[in-house]
Amino acid sequence: MYTRNPGKDAVLFIKAFVSNQLAKFAPKLYVDITRQTGRGKKEEPHQASAYFIECFQDFIQQLGFEVGEAKKFLEGKKILEYGPGDTLGVALLLYAHGAEAVHCVDRFPLSKMSSTNVLVYKQLLESLDTECRMRADNAFIEKGNPSSGFDTGAIAYQVTKNGLSGAIGEYDLIISRSVLEHVNNLEETMLDIKRSMKDKGIAIHKVDLKSHGLDRYTSFDFLTWPTPVYKLMYSHKGFPNRWRVNRYKEFAEKSKLHMKKLTPTGQLDRDKLDIVFSKLAGEFRDISADELSWLGFWMFLEHPNSR
Ligand SMILES: C[S@@+](CC[C@H](N)C(=O)[O-])C[C@H]1O[C@@H](n2cnc3c(N)ncnc32)[C@H](O)[C@@H]1O
Repeated sequence: MYTRNPGKDAVLFIKAFVSNQLAKFAPKLYVDITRQTGRGKKEEPHQASAYFIECFQDFIQQLGFEVGEAKKFLEGKKILEYGPGDTLGVALLLYAHGAEAVHCVDRFPLSKMSSTNVLVYKQLLESLDTECRMRADNAFIEKGNPSSGFDTGAIAYQVTKNGLSGAIGEYDLIISRSVLEHVNNLEETMLDIKRSMKDKGIAIHKVDLKSHGLDRYTSFDFLTWPTPVYKLMYSHKGFPNRWRVNRYKEFAEKSKLHMKKLTPTGQLDRDKLDIVFSKLAGEFRDISADELSWLGFWMFLEHPNSR
């Protein structure tokens, strides 16, 4: 393991272990105490709404469309979003642009209609053209009033064991952003993606492989904690699962999903990687330096029948 101060790391281990036990036995309390939104930093409503608009635009571009063409693709589509965080902003924009329904599923009960989130939804409504605005207004129980809650026929949210949908052949499009690197059982989630897709279904996921603040001294040193120790510290908190891109390829193949596109969003410099290379936990020792260096990626998956 890479360390410059074993005493400091031991204290970190104890603290992380205790909070991991809290998350294991009282997940709701853990989420409330840590005030998680799913987006890390504190932000103003206008920053959150801008983030959701950017996420929406990214998904449309990854699908191969200009933002103005979104309606053409989304019309009548049933969509599943994994791990939306505390605000169903992307779901609202997808619905506004023509999706028939958007279902969100999470492992942690983060979504809430807080006064801040109501403001975010209002700003998203205001960002829309007249046609999309009319559709988006109908996503709420009282037309155009986010405080009344979502009409579950349009946008539904559920918290399930391990964040799995359990759906069979239901969705045209499955999405997630900054979620798969947090799931507790990636193989199970990939299988859930495959099962919940319609025959011609597709899935687009943005995965962030960075340390999410867990590096102590240098980039990627979070990959040097021995795996059993890392699990004792972080396994119940929705922290990064540390799986690298090689495992995503492996699980996609195992689930019989076709990997249409896999695009890195950044790579760690080789000299930085070399600092931790010889200290990596056992499970990362057989991965090529190129795959290890990935900081994140976009993954476009297809149902095998859609080819
Ligand atoms: C970093 S947040 C990203 C939130 C949102 N997608 C965004 O971009 O702001 C990670 C999300 O994944 C969720 N999550 C963690 N484990 C999950 C699992 N096994 N299945 C589904 N969602 C999960 C978390 O509760 C949280 O909502």
